[in-house]
Amino acid sequence: MASTEEMIGRQDLDDVEAILAITNQDVDAVAHAVRAEADAIFTWDYEQSRKPLQKLYEKAKTSQWNSKDLPWDTEVDQEQVALANQVQNGWAENRIDLAGTPFEHWGDPEWLRFGIESQNWTLSQFMHGEQGALICTAQIVETVPWIDAKYYASTQVMDEARHVEVFSRYLNEKLSGIYPINAHLRMLLDDIIADSRWDMTYLGMQIMVEGLALAAFGFMHQMTTEPLLKQLLRYVMSDEARHVAFGVLSLKEYYEQLSASEIRERQEFAFEAAVRMRDRFLQQEVWERLGVDVKEAVKVVLQDPDRPVFQALLFSKIVPNCKKLGLLDAADGWLRTRFTELGVIQFEDWVDTGEEYTTLDEVARDRATTAA
Ligand SMILES: [Fe+2]
Ligand SMILES: [Fe+2]
Repeated sequence: MASTEEMIGRQDLDDVEAILAITNQDVDAVAHAVRAEADAIFTWDYEQSRKPLQKLYEKAKTSQWNSKDLPWDTEVDQEQVALANQVQNGWAENRIDLAGTPFEHWGDPEWLRFGIESQNWTLSQFMHGEQGALICTAQIVETVPWIDAKYYASTQVMDEARHVEVFSRYLNEKLSGIYPINAHLRMLLDDIIADSRWDMTYLGMQIMVEGLALAAFGFMHQMTTEPLLKQLLRYVMSDEARHVAFGVLSLKEYYEQLSASEIRERQEFAFEAAVRMRDRFLQQEVWERLGVDVKEAVKVVLQDPDRPVFQALLFSKIVPNCKKLGLLDAADGWLRTRFTELGVIQFEDWVDTGEEYTTLDEVARDRATTAA
């Protein structure tokens, strides 16, 4: 069994120095190569025997949308959007004592600039994460041994291309800057792609990365008053709910035949992914761009009393799905203990995402309204 240090590169979850020591060195490179060692599997069994996957595939074929359907002519005033977000979130100086910190003398213009950069950063990470999903699902088409799963994954490849496209277009046309991929997110995506076991691609991408994305998109969708972004997120979310369901339905079957030690490896992978995703939310690249001492800034961020609640909510889809897959309680509850340490175990009985796609199908609803 791996030690915490072997899994995440540090002993203490909140070791700020170790977290910030991971940075992207090649931010100017236009390409990044990851060696994938997985076998591409042909199957000669063309029988569609997995009814839930077949149903999901049929749903995916009729729920495709076109990025051109979104109202791209909407005028977006990014300052107004950032201000509205700040009003909703409340002001940091009302929650934290900023005396003696790098923010001591910050006024409205500095906080506004931070709001704008934070939005640029967040949407950039969404875009890069979507490209990770595009690559992972193309990999699943090759590596999964079941024909129903290859069919379904091929629809997801198309969905993810559309997601990369809409986030990229939104960043280019409506926002004011693009950030390189966050170092922790890149590390996680690299690990997922490099793993030769097909089910690890699913666990890393469909359960962990997409589970978090579904929750994060949900927040932003609820919070934003910007109509283009709101609709864009609604459409993306209706796809993402299917993607997470794909992971839950496929892994549920596969995990039933794994040995205890193989399940334990999956638990460790889930824990490592959870830590990487938590680390990325420190937004270290934003502080760097604003010329603030990153370590000092992060120390302040960690003091925000609202932060643990918000951060934990991002795991509200992941934890019930891990429970449904039997990952929480296997190996004497190893992952339950880790998720308790991360402060996210309270979501274990929230609704899992095996069927949520049926209620999130906004595209079908919109089409029905237009046709009526
Ligand atoms: Fe996506
Ligand atoms: Fe997805």
